[in-house]
Amino acid sequence: MSDDDVQLEARLEEQEVFEPPESFVEQANVNDEAIYEEFDENWPDAWERAAELLDWEEEWDQVLDDSDAPFYEWFVDGELNASANCLDRHLADRGDEAAIEWIGELGEKRTYTYDDLHREVNEFAAALRDLGVEEDDVVTMYMPMIPELPIAMLACARIGAPHSVVFAGFSADALATRMESADSEFLVTCDGYYRRGDPLEHKGKADEGLDDVGHDVETIVVDRLDDDYDHPMKAGEHDYDELVAEYAGAEVDPVTRDAEDMLFLMYTSGTTGQPKGVKHTTGGYLSYAAWTSQSVLDIKPDDTYWCSADIGWITGHSYIVYGPLALGTTTVMYEGTPDYPDKDRLWQIVEDYDVTQLYTAPTAIRAFMKWGKEYPEQHDLSSLRLLGTVGEPINPRAWKWYYKHIGREECPVVDTWWQTETGGMMLTTLPGVGDMKPGSAGPPLPGISADIVDVGGDPVEAGRAGYLVVNKPWPGMLRTLYKNDERFIDEYWDEYSNPDRDEWVYFPEDGAKIDDDGYITVLGRVDDVLNVSGHRLGTMEIESAIVGVEGVAEAAVVGGNHEIKGEAVYAYVITEDGYDETEELRDRIIEGVEDAIGPIARPEQVIFTPELPKTRSGKIMRRLLEDIANGDELGNTSTLRNPDVVEDIEAKVRGD
Ligand code: WT7
Repeated sequence: MSDDDVQLEARLEEQEVFEPPESFVEQANVNDEAIYEEFDENWPDAWERAAELLDWEEEWDQVLDDSDAPFYEWFVDGELNASANCLDRHLADRGDEAAIEWIGELGEKRTYTYDDLHREVNEFAAALRDLGVEEDDVVTMYMPMIPELPIAMLACARIGAPHSVVFAGFSADALATRMESADSEFLVTCDGYYRRGDPLEHKGKADEGLDDVGHDVETIVVDRLDDDYDHPMKAGEHDYDELVAEYAGAEVDPVTRDAEDMLFLMYTSGTTGQPKGVKHTTGGYLSYAAWTSQSVLDIKPDDTYWCSADIGWITGHSYIVYGPLALGTTTVMYEGTPDYPDKDRLWQIVEDYDVTQLYTAPTAIRAFMKWGKEYPEQHDLSSLRLLGTVGEPINPRAWKWYYKHIGREECPVVDTWWQTETGGMMLTTLPGVGDMKPGSAGPPLPGISADIVDVGGDPVEAGRAGYLVVNKPWPGMLRTLYKNDERFIDEYWDEYSNPDRDEWVYFPEDGAKIDDDGYITVLGRVDDVLNVSGHRLGTMEIESAIVGVEGVAEAAVVGGNHEIKGEAVYAYVITEDGYDETEELRDRIIEGVEDAIGPIARPEQVIFTPELPKTRSGKIMRRLLEDIANGDELGNTSTLRNPDVVEDIEAKVRGD
């Protein structure tokens, strides 16, 4: 490095506040800070700004109905269709423009123009209807990043059938639980997909899941692997290509949906073993996805925008499919992994497609850093205008690396905090307005009201850690947990004890702190939910999978720090009488977790122990188990019923 470089490096190390680049600000969709005031003064009506990004068949009579809080309703009595908003309305101007640029793992490329996408969505919608899908029937999708996934989602939206997408990496059991819980009688899946160039079978997993579903299911199978894998079709199964061919040229009028009608369900992990079916609506969710895509991701129709998440998670729903397509832009969809065939795959794609925005996760950024800057340096990344991150806290070092080596110090970085439940982004800087502080997501978006409070619900002072709360409803919020209003209230809502503030507050279950400028740094979950590579996993779910393994008496799962994944699963296991602490049992435990949830939940370490550290009241001291996993100084053990066990466990983790 030259002296100049060293100086530059040092400057970057120290810098704590970054101004948005002038060239970006000039062209930004939102570049006037008055927007915050506008929302404050004109709340909730200011939210019409979001709804106005969409085409409505019937305008709303009321922006917000809060008479039955926390069952809020947005854009009351408005009517619209999500598929018409993502497709039909763009045809006149942008029919020939790319809606989806898909890149397969093997390097295949497919471009769907808005015309193409509209055509195939109509054909598939017609097919679904004839297979018996009626309005409000939940259709499950269990497939990887292939174009047929967003096509199926939009086809469902077109006929008013909510979709429930199950991440393809989840296990057969996870699929079955979700289909049962949603009473879903339709499944769209595929024969398999490619990983690192090799075909990976998927249909068998879907079949296994269906074996555990107690009702009949019509299944549609996409042939992704061509001749690489032959899947015999069974009764009640249909081939996707044949269906679409059969309905060639069919047109289906988009069904008129009420703003509050369900657009989709998305299952996510919570504190208990049972996943939660988060319900999102047509009007509020879509308005919110479109608005945040426009104001935060700065999406314009001419952009080639890329979110590298998987559509099996909420990020992909909001920011690969619904937000970008509602705005009529080009959305990039990549099937594969970032390091196949080589570690420059992403940068190759950015260069090939002139990608203008990249939205990814800290876990990926940490991997890029580890691989080294020579990979991005091999490519021309000058098309990039904005960078985004989501999924977990990003440390300032990773932020600066991203800013410098991917963004050339010319792109604002938006660190966006949100959740499956919020539908879209909640805390972040507006890239054309606010200064950026690496490591801190930023202030609440205009119209969003958040605080950091103590256990009593009182705001804590700046710099102190507390609980993040959201004080006012917002259009993209979940409306309930599917068929479980009671759990919805129990899990998320609380009424202020303060009699002057007779309002409901939303608890995201995250710890956070706020600084004097109102920037919020999210510290992580305060419930027993882990964040592994930006994926949310409930410790209870993993524990119940482990306890289900023959030979296991008790288990406790905690998160330990991991260089790339952020958190990794550490499982402390007590064997049943008569079972030895063998490698064989360890393997069965790992298999048990993969079968119940999927490979993402695979324990990094399984630690056998004769006892778990417990308080005198019998509560497992998870903090202590975390400290052990991280090799940290142990906290106070004096309140333990069995302090001696701690040393034994520590020795085991260290491997003595
Ligand atoms: C949890 C939500 C939002 C889509 C992806 C994950 C954590 C998310 C950030 C961020 C710090 C973050 C929180 C949150 N999280 N984004 N920018 N900074 N933490 O959705 O699976 O519902 O998980 O992810 O802990 O509660 P999810």
